[in-house]
Amino acid sequence: MEDLAGRVAFVTGGASGIGLALAEGFAKEGARIVLADIEAEALEKAEGDLLASGAEVIGVQCDVSDRGSVMAAADAAIEAFGKVHILCNNAGVAPADAIDETTPEDWKWCLGVNLMGVVHGIQALVPRIKEQGEGGHVVNTASIAGLIALPTVGIYTATKYAVVGISETLRGELAPAGIGVSVVCPSFVKTRLHEGHRNRPAELGSGPEEPNEFMAQMLANATEPAVIAERVIRGIKRGDFYILPHADMKLGFEARANEILAAFDLD
Ligand SMILES: NC(=O)c1ccc[n+]([C@@H]2O[C@H](COP(=O)([O-])OP(=O)(O)OC[C@H]3O[C@@H](n4cnc5c(N)ncnc54)[C@H](O)[C@@H]3O)[C@@H](O)[C@H]2O)c1
Repeated sequence: MEDLAGRVAFVTGGASGIGLALAEGFAKEGARIVLADIEAEALEKAEGDLLASGAEVIGVQCDVSDRGSVMAAADAAIEAFGKVHILCNNAGVAPADAIDETTPEDWKWCLGVNLMGVVHGIQALVPRIKEQGEGGHVVNTASIAGLIALPTVGIYTATKYAVVGISETLRGELAPAGIGVSVVCPSFVKTRLHEGHRNRPAELGSGPEEPNEFMAQMLANATEPAVIAERVIRGIKRGDFYILPHADMKLGFEARANEILAAFDLD
């Protein structure tokens, strides 16, 4: 999809961090934007700022872990703009703890947002994008934790490996309909991911202590979200499937890939 002008982009987790940067990037391209996010105050601010910059945008409060909520947000998008062409399944949270210390509630929350959120986004919007017959693009925000497993983020890693797998499957399923797919796997980005607990449902209890100090430090000096958004928009335009903004992570992936390849040849 080379020209994004006039297209409609639906961005989950669009009120802050990478999602907001994506929305700002789409606005610069002349696309219309739907911000779908659970955090009311941030959503209102993001929508107001984008409107003030001249963008065509609506904010819809939405919990991506709730199928009905995502379906309603998709309806709101169609009502506002008539169509959706680009779906960015980007909302995510990252409770960090050793796997044996995590609780069923931690799993429920993180799987609900990071994994089922992506499934809900696909099921709410891909049939409509297909029906329109104008092509389109789905961008799933995974993480480098979807390609390399690191200690203390086991739940997060489980969801991000799943998002990479879903994206690889979806790519083949949507190719005949002329709908592109990308999966973006960044390393650390300067966002509020380490403060994800601000959106944890009260009924799931408090969970691991956040902000996680290690993550806070890593994010503080990390890549600006706008850099990731630029790579994603370039990826949509030229049809990149894997979008891997951090080349310094190549060695880690290479070690994993080599270990797996070598294991095929073990007697
Ligand atoms: N920041 C990083 O270092 C990094 C690295 C790799 C991948 N990612 C991924 O990038 C994506 C965006 O995260 P971010 O880093 O911008 O963090 P962020 O906390 O700044 O933004 C996440 C957004 O998701 C929203 N959100 C949370 N729960 C939601 C729910 N149930 N329904 C709808 N919206 C919800 C939040 O309100 C927020 O606006 C996530 O999927 C994250 O896993 C982040």
